[in-house]
Amino acid sequence: MGDTSEPGRASAPEVVELDALRPDAAVLDELAGRLAEGLLVAFPTETVYGLGAAVDRPAALRRIFAVKGRPPTDPLIVHVAHVDALDGIVDAVPVRARDLAAAFWPGPLTMVLPRGPLVGDEVTAGGPSVGVRVPAHPVAQGLIRALGTGIAAPSANRFGRISPTTAQDVVAELGPWLAAGDAVADGGPTPLGIESTVVDLTGGRPTVLRHGGVPVEDLEEVLGDVDAPERRVVADDEASASPGALLRHYAPDTPLALVEGDRALVDELVGALGQLGLAARVLDLPADPYDAAADLYRALRAADGGAEDLLLAVAMAPAGLGRGINDRLFRAAHGRVVTDASPETVDRLVSAARAWRP
Ligand code: TXA
Ligand code: MG
Repeated sequence: MGDTSEPGRASAPEVVELDALRPDAAVLDELAGRLAEGLLVAFPTETVYGLGAAVDRPAALRRIFAVKGRPPTDPLIVHVAHVDALDGIVDAVPVRARDLAAAFWPGPLTMVLPRGPLVGDEVTAGGPSVGVRVPAHPVAQGLIRALGTGIAAPSANRFGRISPTTAQDVVAELGPWLAAGDAVADGGPTPLGIESTVVDLTGGRPTVLRHGGVPVEDLEEVLGDVDAPERRVVADDEASASPGALLRHYAPDTPLALVEGDRALVDELVGALGQLGLAARVLDLPADPYDAAADLYRALRAADGGAEDLLLAVAMAPAGLGRGINDRLFRAAHGRVVTDASPETVDRLVSAARAWRP
């Protein structure tokens, strides 16, 4: 396992192009061969790009953590081709998991279930449960089927950073940390743009650990009542529960504030900051939640590290996919939420900007 803080080499990983809808079987076989050998292959799913290792390759699984700079306490999601491929990966598939699978798989839903004997501590971070998902993307499906076993894959970004929605994002995030023989399967931009919804089915009541591609309203149609806290924040020192719930995650370098209000409030804030000599950039996301999700990480990436002192994003209506988008923006903003343009609020934003660019 390499050092987690220093890049391994300067050259770029091999990027292999694939048709997103009809990926070439010979190319998928070649990439699956790399996974079987214990190499890492990043690949597109319908949500974001994942950094994959074969579920039965412990050394490769450990390298995922090194490449991402991810704490070893953060479990990985195992991707399988079909609900019937969960034998040995989970202990059992309870009825409500079967119902969810019938409704949402393949698709952007991850279920947390008691782990099975085929899944090692490298995947579960030593815990008793495992997250499983059947992705819909033809490249992900084809790669899993060609390998013939599960692929463990977190989002293919450095830990805590903006998730990748193109192969180029993956190279920019992880290129220096990948090794010779690792590859990136380029299937173009990911269609959904935010991660799967994670639902924990190990307790009495299903609990949403992360809002995402399957809205809570849709889960409730299958499960009845679901525990779905809007802003589930865990402290940095209890991160093992589900690090996607950390306050700072999915984050750009330039400080971001989440504005709960209308465009007039945003304009007022931009004006007030401008008078103090600070440049703010507004993240203009489309009004439609599906379009906004598809654009979210691209917009954050494009806005990051520019000339601006501060980024402002307007919260979506808290329903459907909007919940997942607001959740990512809230964490990308490190919990910095703004509801007015009072002098105190503006002061708070100035402090955040000055901490970044003194
Ligand atoms: O859409 C997605 O889910 C993408 C694509 C690649 O499938 N994957 C992804 O993985 O977002 P990752 O590791 O970046 O985020 C998975 C989240 C993390 O917050 C992790 O802590 C949580 O799911 N998680 C995974 N296994 C878990 C488990 N057994 N118990 C609780 N939380 C779990
Ligand atoms: Mg992630």
